[in-house]
Amino acid sequence: MTHEIVPISHEHIERFHRTLDFVARERRYLAFLEAPPLDEARTYVLNNIAKGYPHLVVLSEGEVAGWCDIVPKSRPVHAHVGVLGLALLPEFRGQGVGERLMLQTLEAARTFGLHRVELTVREDNKNAIALYKKIGFDIEGLMRDAMKVDGVYESTYLMSLLL
Ligand SMILES: CC(C)(COP(=O)(O)OP(=O)(O)OC[C@H]1O[C@@H](n2cnc3c(N)ncnc32)[C@H](O)[C@@H]1OP(=O)(O)O)[C@@H](O)C(=O)NCCC(=O)NCCS
Repeated sequence: MTHEIVPISHEHIERFHRTLDFVARERRYLAFLEAPPLDEARTYVLNNIAKGYPHLVVLSEGEVAGWCDIVPKSRPVHAHVGVLGLALLPEFRGQGVGERLMLQTLEAARTFGLHRVELTVREDNKNAIALYKKIGFDIEGLMRDAMKVDGVYESTYLMSLLL
């Protein structure tokens, strides 16, 4: 499927929210089980745009097929650290789109001036972990039973990349 990767803008917010909600409701990948309310998502995106934080979307046939964002932590001592989020709709997975999207977003993080990018990934998310390792992220530790989904505890890896 043809697609383009572009910085998120105001016009993408509702479609971004729908895509986030879809992947969250898969319940297997994210730290959300549904998207936050649209107004909250709008505030989040508008803040990313206003501050110039890296937040890219994959556009295909008018839809937002995925996104990657890297948002700096708020405290001054952590301001050099960005937290990465990433997902694609199912039909866009496994074709190299995630890797391209992530590399472009990391380039934007470098340009922004971030030094460290970190993420958490659920222990059984083998595809995402393979992608992160391929790009150069290292596992820093296993956060034991960090999540509980449908009554089952799940551990998450903390991974990071120094830019
Ligand atoms: C994780 C995700 C973003 C990866 O994007 P993708 O486009 O599917 O991955 P790519 O096709 O770019 O693959 C890049 C690398 O990832 C790994 N990978 C991706 N899919 C894989 C699979 N099915 N099996 C094994 N490795 C896989 C490989 O290392 C691959 O490199 P290679 O093709 O040279 O072997 C995507 O699968 C996705 O959206 N998954 C659901 C949401 C999610 O898990 N988000 C991350 C939460 S932490």
